[in-house]
Order: sequence, then C-alpha cells, then structure tokens
Amino acid sequence: MDNQEIINHLGEDRSAYQNAVVPPIHQSSIYCFETVNDLRQNLKKELEVPFYTRGVNPTVVTLRKKLAALEHTEDALVFGSGSAAIAAAVMNSVRSGDHVICVQKPYSWTGKLLDDYLKKFDIEVSFIDGRKIEHFNNAIQSNTKLIYLETPNSVTFELQDLQAVSDLAKKHQIRTICDNSYSTPVFQNPADYGIDIVCHSASKYIGGHSDVVAGVLCASKEIVHSIFSNEFMTIGSIISPHDAWLLIRGIRTLPMRIKQSHETTAQVINWLAKHPKVEKINYPFHPESEQFELAQKQMRGCGGLFSMEIAANSVEEVEDFCNGLKHFLIACSWGGYESLLFPTCALFDSANYNKTTLSWKLIRFYIGFEEPETIIEDFKQAFEKM
Ligand SMILES: Cc1ncc(COP(=O)(O)O)c(C=O)c1O
Repeated sequence: MDNQEIINHLGEDRSAYQNAVVPPIHQSSIYCFETVNDLRQNLKKELEVPFYTRGVNPTVVTLRKKLAALEHTEDALVFGSGSAAIAAAVMNSVRSGDHVICVQKPYSWTGKLLDDYLKKFDIEVSFIDGRKIEHFNNAIQSNTKLIYLETPNSVTFELQDLQAVSDLAKKHQIRTICDNSYSTPVFQNPADYGIDIVCHSASKYIGGHSDVVAGVLCASKEIVHSIFSNEFMTIGSIISPHDAWLLIRGIRTLPMRIKQSHETTAQVINWLAKHPKVEKINYPFHPESEQFELAQKQMRGCGGLFSMEIAANSVEEVEDFCNGLKHFLIACSWGGYESLLFPTCALFDSANYNKTTLSWKLIRFYIGFEEPETIIEDFKQAFEKM
C-alpha cells in the first residue's frame, strides 16, 4: 500500500458510519456490553476493543493504523504529547541500575528526562556525539539497555547512521529508540533499519496546523502491548478523540506539505549560503553539510527546519535581526503553515549565555508555506539593516 492509500483509506470503515467519507469523532469515554459475561471477556482485551477511552477509542484506532503503516511498524500508540510518547518509550525500556546512551543535544525535555529525572531510579546516561559509530561502541557498558537517537536533532541537525547504530545495538541486545519528528515517515523510516521504537512529536508536521499537541510511538505488536499495559494505561496521557480526528485530517496532506517545505527551504538555503552575513548553516540537505552523504542515504528529503549563525557583533544585533523579519512569527515548534524563528539567545538571560554550548548567534528557522521569494526578500531586508 502506498502512503497516500494508507492516508486516504486504511483504518476507515465507511459502511459503519452511513458511508460518510470522513470518519466521525467518537466522543465517548465509555463503551457498553450486552451482558456481564461480555463485559468480563472484553475487560481482558483492552488493547483490542473500545472499553474505556483511556485505552482504546475508535477514532484513535483509525489514526494508529495509519501511523503504524506509514512508519512500517506493526502497531502504534498515540499520546497527549510527544514528550509523553518519548517518556513512555524510555521508561518501558529501562529499570533501576541500567545505563542509557543518548545523543548530545536531544530535545530539551527528553534531555531533562534522561539526564535528570532518571537519576531518581539510579539510571546512568552517557551523552555522546552521535556522528561517529565509534562513539556508540566506546560508550557501551555491560548494563547498557537503551540507545536513544534523534536524527537529525532539531537545533543543530547532526545525524546518526541508523543502520550502523541498529546493527551495533542488536549485537549487544540493546533496545533503540529514534525521535523521527523532523523527517516524518514521509522522509525517513527508522524501523526499516531495525530501530525498535520510533517516536514523534505529532504537534509538528503530523498535525501540521499548529493547533494540536500530540505524540506518537510506533513499534512491534510486542513492544506496543508492553507499553500499553504499563506506561500508557498507568500514566494515562492520552489524546482526546477530537485531537485524534484533527491529526487524521492533518496527515491527509502530510506528504504534500512536507514536500513543499523541502522545495521552498532548498531555495531559501541556496540563497542564504551565498550571503556574506551568514556564517554557518545547519541543514542536513545543504550540500556543504559534513553529513550530506548520510542524509542522502537515509532520508528521502528534508523539512523546513534549519538553523544558522549570523555575523552579528552582539546579542542586541541578533535580536534586532529577528525582530526585523516581517514574515516570521517568533515562537517555538515547527511543522505548521507559518514561518517561525527561535534564537538561542532567548534561552538564557544575558548573564547566563555561557551555560549553553550553542552559539548566541544561532537562530532556528522554520519555513512555512510562503513563496520562497517572499522569504528571501524578507531575509534580504533584515540583513540590509544589520
Ligand atoms: C524533536 C522533538 N521531539 C519531541 C518534542 C516534544 O513534543 P511535544 O511538544 O509534542 O511534547 C519536541 C517538541 O518541540 C521536539 O522538538
């Protein structure tokens, strides 16, 4: 089944809802049964049948089927946020006394979970530069149970070689998780390389309209069953049926949207790369990127998120440049229709810039669906004022 067929039809049973083309929102928290014995039997199958919406809800099931198929995995779970999906995946993979290897600079709240929260359970984490497989190999200990990847990460866009990491992990019986929010299943399928759990912040491209916060985890039936029966049901960080329906609507156009992002951003990057006031561009599909070859090998395209360092002499100059851009909203996140920017200097009070390894000249941009000429003109006028 190709992606658009999955998106248009998989998991939809139109005859069950009067042949409506669009599935209804099953806004019901509970499901009833004919007899007490039916109730008893269905209680044993909470992952299979609608019983209570914290477990299974038909609208969410339609979405789960599509997401699992798009990510080439057997099943998927949908959560109330990407962080909830990541936390469930991680917590299911480790126990007290284990060791985790994680790439440097993961998404901030993933970093907090691994570096800080897991300490409570005596779990040690090594953060490594994931660009070289030797770094993974050198970090493995006898108690390493998990390798956590984000390829690329969403600030400086370093990649990890999915095949090499997966082969190494399998040799040592270590579980692997990859955050695939940046590429979406349209541009990268970590499960094809043997990655065990693929996570997403669906608040980005999957939702696609900056109106839903949600998360996804895709894996084998066995792993999904284990996470469902433990972290998913106990923590209960579910998505509402209405938000699941918005995600179904969002993914109808996911391939078109992300391909448009890829094309527009390539033109913008081309122009920026020649600009004298651009010191550095971080974008996996930029031909001058040191990991361009790996990007071409494991990604089918690149989204609209990139970062660059500008030739500013002060933080004030960075702020003026950002404030002067007319077509960018100053906000976190990405993956919607609108262009966004987020400078690293906003992460710290000026007295604390040295607390980050990121340059204060670094600005992250997301290119929305404006015409490339509009975005380029905007950058041009903002650079001219510098
Ligand atoms: C790469 C990445 N992963 C995970 C998350 C967390 O997702 P959410 O905000 O949906 O909880 C984010 C959020 O910005 C992210 O950028």
